[in-house]
This record gives sequence, structure tokens and C-alpha cells, in this order.
Amino acid sequence: MNLRTIVISVAASTLALSSCTPKSGMDSYIDSLMGKMTLEQKIGQLNLHSAPGFVSAMKVTEEDGNVKLLREGRLGGIYGNGDVQYLRQIQQIALDSGAGIPLIFGMDVIHGHETVMPIPLALSTSWNMELIEKTARTAAKEATACGINWVFSPMVDVARDARWGRIAEGGGEDPYLGGEIAKAMVRGYQGDDAEISDDEVLACVKHYALYGAAEAGRDYNTVNLGRQEILNGYMRPYHEAAKAGAASYMSSFNEFEGVPATMNSYLMDELLRRSWGFNGFIVTDATAIAEEVNHGIGDLQEVSARSLKAGVDMDMNSDGFIETLVQSVKEGRVSEKDIDRACRKILEAKYRLGLFEDPFKYLKGERANEIYTPETKAVAYEAACESQVLLKNDGILPLKGNERVAVIGPLADNPSEMTGCWSMSSKAGDCASILSGIRRHCPGATYSQGSNIFLDEQFEDKVKYGLIRMFSPSTPLPKAHALPQSALVADALSKARGADVIVACVGEITALNGEGASRADICIPDAQKELLRSLKATGKPIVLVLTTGRPLTLGWENDNMNAILCTWNLGTEAGNAIADVLYGKVNPSGKLTTSFPYHVGQEPLYYNHKNTGRPHPDYAPYQKFVSCYIDVVNGPLYPFGYGLSYNSYKYGEVKLSSTEMPSTDGSVQVSVDVNNEGKMDGKETVQLYIHAKYSSSTRPVKELKAFRKVDFKAGETKTVTFTLTPEDLSYYDHDLRWVCEKGEYDIMIGPNCNDLKGSTLKVVR
Ligand code: NOJ
Repeated sequence: MNLRTIVISVAASTLALSSCTPKSGMDSYIDSLMGKMTLEQKIGQLNLHSAPGFVSAMKVTEEDGNVKLLREGRLGGIYGNGDVQYLRQIQQIALDSGAGIPLIFGMDVIHGHETVMPIPLALSTSWNMELIEKTARTAAKEATACGINWVFSPMVDVARDARWGRIAEGGGEDPYLGGEIAKAMVRGYQGDDAEISDDEVLACVKHYALYGAAEAGRDYNTVNLGRQEILNGYMRPYHEAAKAGAASYMSSFNEFEGVPATMNSYLMDELLRRSWGFNGFIVTDATAIAEEVNHGIGDLQEVSARSLKAGVDMDMNSDGFIETLVQSVKEGRVSEKDIDRACRKILEAKYRLGLFEDPFKYLKGERANEIYTPETKAVAYEAACESQVLLKNDGILPLKGNERVAVIGPLADNPSEMTGCWSMSSKAGDCASILSGIRRHCPGATYSQGSNIFLDEQFEDKVKYGLIRMFSPSTPLPKAHALPQSALVADALSKARGADVIVACVGEITALNGEGASRADICIPDAQKELLRSLKATGKPIVLVLTTGRPLTLGWENDNMNAILCTWNLGTEAGNAIADVLYGKVNPSGKLTTSFPYHVGQEPLYYNHKNTGRPHPDYAPYQKFVSCYIDVVNGPLYPFGYGLSYNSYKYGEVKLSSTEMPSTDGSVQVSVDVNNEGKMDGKETVQLYIHAKYSSSTRPVKELKAFRKVDFKAGETKTVTFTLTPEDLSYYDHDLRWVCEKGEYDIMIGPNCNDLKGSTLKVVR
């Protein structure tokens, strides 16, 4: 530690102990620090770089481009490395250089860290906010033990189009549910109070904003929506995260209203900061500033200046700020005040993390034994159990335990495919495979790979290895097809013939979803579909265990499989949790948070759509001159909120404590009796939707406004009561005012959005 750092540290601790409020302590501390910084050093704080190697343990060398920048005082943070030794070295260089300001260390900790939790889309299907919070808490503990103090999560983009690969990373299609998840995740990462302790991290809410609305589901694509639509349909999760105190936001790649989000002052300044009161910092997505040149806005200097002025505080990987802002100050394109604003935000975050008091707060290296422990795996197991959605069951599940089972499919014995996208710090190879989980219940289960992923080997090679080739071109890679499809299917059929039941494990490999993985045809890939058809021809019952990061078209599977269990990517404990559901040790309780279409041509497909002037019932056949398709119904194969369990739940009539409510205050109790008719204990998510019959603007046919996941003993009846207030009925009207309008509302409760019972509530003055 150099003298300057010691002075800063002593000053920081003195300030922390002083009688000033923490806020004023921070302000005066930063005032004094910034008073000593040069313009270049301030701009340096606005620069974030990826570590040269994405996770692996590395030695810091002078060839490392970041070291050079650090020595010049031109780097404020690093992301993508979770190796305490590396981070210690690089932190020391930061302290010894320029203004001696510690670095912030970020990382894509999206669903767990070394212990992998289910992908966010899967987690959302648990509808269990305490559990979601616990997964984030666990991830924060592990990440901080690896030196990370800032995570690029939660990803809260509402996504209505299953072609978009990044639907895997978020909480689905509903803004209300998305908002609840956003709050839970922020609490899990940052804790309940303003203090950030050494096992908590700063959250980074992304991708701000509207990244999930990319046209045609094609990644990075244009967003074409009006303000009323975004405020009602998309912005709630970002807003709830701000209310929960999220420390930072990441601006997104897409444009909105003809202006890239990363230089969009309506989104960042007007809405996020001024209207919602967010006072943390905004970082761009990786290279987003440089990409604004491709958007056709101007050269790097122009787009950097505009991004700063619109509200960006930190530039990730574009070098736009460090390369151009000094010049822009000279030319008057930005002011020193703009730079001071951004620099202050970054220093505030570092102060809040306690890095001025102890730059090595997260780098003690004493907590390695807190990573990948029985406790962290227990959380992953619980989350994996609750994040599975039983889509179909003709009674074959749960398995009895005495059947001869053939486990077949390319995802059956494939531990590293259980983690899903964004799990670069995971011990992927250690994940419990589906086969290993099943063999805990049925040691004699036979296995066959059964098929390749795709019939076309070249295509499979491209999909599977594209990323590895990009980042590590010299890595030796196996052939995409180790065996021809015909040999794999023949082996599968011989195993199938000797079994009483087939468990077919197919779906998407991780490379098929996540970033840069949009699909125009969202079916089970062809080779695996061919396998399923061959297995079907044996006449044996088939349980389809589906691995996927998005809704798929499963019309044929629904007609031909005996059961379908959607298991997404469940992480470290995937195989154990899946097998425990298959054998009835765990009663499935997940419910969809995205609609599953019959046909990709229905996309974007979402339950909370508007009516047209010529509406058509969801499952009615084609009719001329109404709003429908000739060749497919309007409705989904599996709707939002849907998911079976091994019980059935009977819902009683919906009761309101009053049939009228004033629009300005007051509340109404809405209750329903729910009975677990089955013989197993279970959990049921009771969902409340509203529909405004007449409004001054058009409104969705249904809107989720409350839900509760309830435990039921076998045979038990519980009364579930929700309190509804005018706030729950409010929306942004045509003039973008948040209003509760007078009139009649359907208040509906049920097990999913298509199976509801209702009552009418009148909102009066
Ligand atoms: C790009 C992705 O869009 C974002 O989600 C991620 O956090 C950053 N890269 C950093 O890896």
C-alpha cells in the first residue's frame, strides 16, 4: 500500500467514525478525493475492462493491457475474473498508481457462481420469491469469497418472443412477476439494509431498457414500442429494482425511439434517475458505446460524448470515454461537470462497498471453504426441485420404482449441459446428470445416447463449438458426431425394447440459447425428434425430460409422449432434483412464466395481449375476417401460469369483501378456497388476474396482479386471501399518468391464466 492509499484509508475510517451522517461523510470524502484528481484520472474511473482471461487463474504481467492502463490511471474496474490471487495483484497495482483508487471487480454471476442455480427462466417458474432471494444470497456469498463485489444481475428484461435466446436469462413475459423477482434478487445480492457487508455485492440491473423486445426475437435488434406500452408492459421490473435500492444498471444494446438505449436520455435520465429516483451508477453493456457508431449516430467521439451526457457513468470495453472525453472537454462537447457527475457515481459505489477503508475487503482469500459446499448445493437442489414444470402426465408419473427403465438421449448423461448459459465459473463437469440421478433410484437403469443433436454434423459443429473457437481457437475439439445417427438410434432401440418405460432426455444444448442464440424454428432439434419418433414406434411408454432455455413448440410431443417434464437448465443439482420428481420424492410445483406456442409463427405470444376489434377465442377454428390464423389456433399449447403436479387442486368461488371500491383509497379482500384433492402433500401457486372492462385506453385481456405459493397437506383446504387496492388496478393512461379509472373490473383467480373463476368489482369515485 503506498502512502497515498494509507492516507485515503485512514481518512475513510476517520470519516466513518465521525459524527457526520454516512451520506455527508461520503460526500465530503469524495469531494476531497476528487479535488485532488486530474481530469484524466477522473475519466479513468469511468472505464471498465474485461480481464484478459475470462475466469481462469492468471499471473499479472506487464503485457496485460489492463496493467498498462492502470499504471496510467485509466481504469476504474475489471470484470470477468474471480481469482483472488489475480485480483489482489491487480488491486495493488491500482493502489500504487495514479490517484491510488481501488478497482471495483464485476462478474457475470447470473444464476449462482461455482454452485450453479437453475437458469433465471427456470427459477421464475418456481414462483417462490424467498427461494429466489436465497439463490441470489448464496451466489453473493460465493462470488465475494472469490473477490467479486459487483454482479451483472438481475436480468429483468420482459420477453414475449421465444425466438430470442436470452429469454433464458430473465423472468419471463409478465411485468408484475418480473418486478417481484427483481426485488427478491436485489435483496439477495445487496442484503436488506444500505450496508454492503463482505459477503454482499452490488447488483447491476440489466439490460436497461427493453432489450427483451428485440424485433422478431433477433438478438440486438431494434425495439419498436410506444411509451405507454413500455410503461405498462415492460418497465415495471426495472422500476421495482430501483425501488429496492439496486446500486447500478447496465444500459442495453438496442435502440428505443430511434436513439440507442446507451445514449437515451429519456430512459436513463428522465425515467430512471428523475422519475424513479435512482442514484447509483449506470454502466454500458460491453462495447455498447462503440456499437453506436454502427447504429449510425456518429464517430466514437460523438457517441461517447452523447452517452455520457445522456447518463452513462461507466464505459464497458469500448474505450470511448478514455480515448475521446479529454478532447470533447476541450471542444466543449461535454463539460467537466458531466465527468464529475459520472466520476462521483463510481466513487460512491466504491465507498459504499467499503473499498476506501479496505481495498482488500473482498480479497482476503480466507473464505474459500464457503464455496461449493453442502449448504450451497442444498440451495441449488431446493431451487432445482421447485423449478421444474410438469407439462403433461397421463398417469405414468411418478414412477413406481420397480420398472425397468431405459434412459435415452444426448442430454441424459451430459453433466456440463445441465448448467445453461452464463455459468462460466461453474464446476460444470460435476453437475449431477439425469442418468446419475435416476440410477440413485433405479441402479439397473440402462443408458443410450440415442442421437446426435442435429442431423447435419457441420451445423452441429458450428453451433456447439462456435464460442470456443472464437475465444480459444487452438483448443482441440472432438468431432461433433462421434457416431453416426443410425448407429445411435439402433442402440437406443435395443435398450428401449428391454425396458418397461423410456425416459427420453432431449432438447436444447446450452449453445442454442442465451446471448447471440436466436432461433427461427424453436422445435426440438431434428436428430432428437427423429429419435423420439423411433422410440414412439416401439410402443413403450415415454417420459420426455426436456432440457431447454426457452419455450419450444411441442405439439407432436404433447400428442405422443406419456409425460413431459420441462426441466430447463437446473444447474449443479439438476439430475438429483429431476430424478426425485420423476420418482415422486418431490411433487412438481413449477408453473410456466412464458407461453409455449403450437407454432413458431404465433410468436411473439404472450397471455397479457390486447383485444382487437375483431377478437377470436383462443382455441376456436379459423374464421374469415376475424383476428386469427388460417393454420393454427391463437392460443398457446401451454399457457402462462400452467403446470401440473401429482395432485389436483380444486378452486372454489372467488369472494370479494365488497363489490365496490373507491378509486382513491380503500381496499378489497379477495379470497378463494383451494383444496388439495390428491394424496400427496404439495405446493400450489394461486394466481390473481384482473381485466378492466372499459378504460380510457385499451388494456390487456388479463393482467397478473398477485400470486401466492401455498403449501398443502394431502386433502387439505386453505382459504387464500389477497388484498386489492386501487394501486393494483392502476395503469399508465394515454397521457402517461398512473391512474386507477372508475368502472368495472373482472377479478379472477385460478391455477393458470386460462383457467380462472371471477367476480366483478366496481371502482367508484
Ligand atoms: C454482454 C451481455 O449482454 C451482458 O449481459 C453481460 O453482462 C456483459 N456482456 C458482460 O459480460
